[in-house]
Amino acid sequence: MIRSAILVVAACALLAACGSKRGEEVRKGTLLERVGNNDGIVSVVADFSKRLPAHDVLKAKFSGVDMAAFKANLANELCVQVGGNCRRDASMLKARGLSQEQYDEFVELFVESMNVVKLPSKEQNDLIDALYALRKKHSGAKTAKAEPGK
Ligand code: HEM
Repeated sequence: MIRSAILVVAACALLAACGSKRGEEVRKGTLLERVGNNDGIVSVVADFSKRLPAHDVLKAKFSGVDMAAFKANLANELCVQVGGNCRRDASMLKARGLSQEQYDEFVELFVESMNVVKLPSKEQNDLIDALYALRKKHSGAKTAKAEPGK
């Protein structure tokens, strides 16, 4: 009986660290807190927005884009996705006819930025889930109305 209780405690201790790499900081709290609240999101998105216009595959899509506005919009969307109380215009995220390859590159680049700000792997995975939650609406067929002239 005592033995099985010890086993359960040990399993729980392991589970608490689930998703984290060995030796990595284990953060507690809501997802919003674990990613460093809105400031944490803004730091990742700021680094990411600097990298995008120089990225081989993605830069063409972002040519002519107002990166300051993009940065603010993406940070606000992510903040809402992780439970923050940020303001964002829900009609903002437009369908842009995006490919799987573009998404993969986008997420890979985002991971580089999360590494720069030293976000632990569990929080990185959770933020990637938040990115993908926005994907469906964003990747749909591009319409002239949604994106005139592009
Ligand atoms: C899961 C991944 C992605 C998320 C969460 C995301 C999110 C966003 C958000 C919140 C905006 C601002 C709102 C808007 O203008 O629609 C935006 C804009 C934009 N996104 Fe994405 N995006 C993702 C992937 C991509 C990819 C893969 C591309 C293209 C390679 C892309 C291209 C754009 C462009 C061109 C804009 C427009 C900026 C503008 O004209 O102001 N996005 N995205």
